[in-house]
Amino acid sequence: MKKVYGVIGDPIGHSMSPVMHNDLFEHNEIDATYLAFHVKKGNLEAAVTGLKALGVSGFNVTVPHKTDIIPLLDDIDPLAKAIGAVNTVVNTNGKLIGFNTDGRGFVRALLNKGLSLTEQKVLVIGAGGAARAIYFSLAEAGVKEIDICNRTVEKALSLKEACPFSVETKVSSISEAEKTIVDYDLLIQTTSIGMSPQVDDTPIRFKALKTDCFASDIIYNPLETKFLKEAKFIGASIQNGVDMFVNQGALAFEIWTSIFPDTNRMTENVLKQLGGSSC
Ligand code: ATR
Repeated sequence: MKKVYGVIGDPIGHSMSPVMHNDLFEHNEIDATYLAFHVKKGNLEAAVTGLKALGVSGFNVTVPHKTDIIPLLDDIDPLAKAIGAVNTVVNTNGKLIGFNTDGRGFVRALLNKGLSLTEQKVLVIGAGGAARAIYFSLAEAGVKEIDICNRTVEKALSLKEACPFSVETKVSSISEAEKTIVDYDLLIQTTSIGMSPQVDDTPIRFKALKTDCFASDIIYNPLETKFLKEAKFIGASIQNGVDMFVNQGALAFEIWTSIFPDTNRMTENVLKQLGGSSC
């Protein structure tokens, strides 16, 4: 019988996941389909009960359900539990098990760029849900020094205090971080600042960066944010959010099928949907 997978969220119409995963199912000769389900906040519990009753094999979870879904699951991966957010669910013999592949996908995307992560001095810009997944996953991967700057410093402090992994972290305001930005090997932009249509905005200003600095932005629309443009202009290597999106999807696909898919193929597929080329 054909297996059914999907994604639940609100809004969901612009999700690139259905085209990406359906291409992978076809390419890997798996008899399965992936659908987008528009689930409003108040309907989450009914939707999850329904997905389970229908025997859906697995699904992704996006805004606004990533945290609210946790009590509705039968089990949760320890990293997802620590992050407090689930983006991937697998149905194993009628039990729904939740994972978070966002942060691990981001780490994989960096490793694919050849960075020796454990030796990097990292600055995370932002302290929201995306920053939390990335910060915990980098710490899990063994990065020793990860500082966090945020408009609201208390939120950065909460992230530091909640991290279950051993890591050295200083928290600061954005303007304080601007003064020491040349110390960092890796800058990670996790806020929504610079996202289309506000493409002229950037969360942090700098005139110089460390030689060989690597700047990563989780935004993929536009493919090159103002933050990345400014970092590139000074000589940094850059990476946009396409790689994180692709790798979170690849890790989800692996959880569902035990096959790690071709991420180059996925990147081409996503770029086609976005109508541009990656960096
Ligand atoms: P997500 O789950 O996508 O990470 P979020 O949890 O709402 O979204 O977090 C948004 C992040 O962007 C936060 O770090 C937020 O800063 P605050 O914690 O101070 O709110 C940051 N952010 C959003 N808009 C901002 C703005 N105009 N200026 C500075 N930071 C902003």
